[in-house]
Amino acid sequence: MRIDVLTIFPDYLAPLELSLAGKARDRGLIDIRVHDLRDWTRDRHRTVDDTPYGGGAGMVMKPEPWGEAFDTLLDDGDVEGATVVFTTPSGQPFTQAVARELASKGRLIFACGRYEGIDQRVIDEVSTRAEVREISLGDYVLNGGEVAALAITEAVVRLVPGFMGNAASLVEESHTLSDSGASLLEYPVYTKPASWRDREVPPVLLSGDHAAIATWRHDQAVRRTAERRPDLVHGSVLLDDVQVRPAE
Ligand code: ADE
Repeated sequence: MRIDVLTIFPDYLAPLELSLAGKARDRGLIDIRVHDLRDWTRDRHRTVDDTPYGGGAGMVMKPEPWGEAFDTLLDDGDVEGATVVFTTPSGQPFTQAVARELASKGRLIFACGRYEGIDQRVIDEVSTRAEVREISLGDYVLNGGEVAALAITEAVVRLVPGFMGNAASLVEESHTLSDSGASLLEYPVYTKPASWRDREVPPVLLSGDHAAIATWRHDQAVRRTAERRPDLVHGSVLLDDVQVRPAE
């Protein structure tokens, strides 16, 4: 997978070198390139923003540098199936399902907006040349889209086939669909010692009874999901199993 990131703060993406994505890059599974949007400006001050038409507070990112940056990236021959991700608080919420979709793409280009956002014509024009997704990390406002691009990259890269050493850990973790189709949070986990500061590991986990362990874990995952994320539990089928109800 090839990933390009367009930003006015390339240093913000430095953690990509350290993290899991850095490992994937070293192993040749992904090719990540970070670009400074200002390289596509033409004035002495390398200007990327201007005042909004219609008035109002803040600045809007000018279309010209973005247009030229996309001309370069979308014309470099490696564009088959490229998906352009604009990170914005007004986008579709980022979820594990979206991460799975993005992990199936051959090429992602992240466009990190700053200030009040990017001139809408950029998004409209790029939409005629590539698949475009506008994605939000969550219902809060960051100073820019860089942290969102980092988080999305980390969630996506670990799903790229061949990346995770242990594929089973991808199946059981939070936000993976259970057999019944519901998305559950992960059950609590324990390791040695069996007794620590007078706190005991639940005995079923020491029993060696794999069926009982699976039942207990499923039960715990359902309870936890009902308590913390009732929005993830559709209907009450799962909840009836363990006699809990989602919080109102
Ligand atoms: N830029 C600013 N806030 C953001 C958010 N919540 N998600 C994605 N990009 C953003």
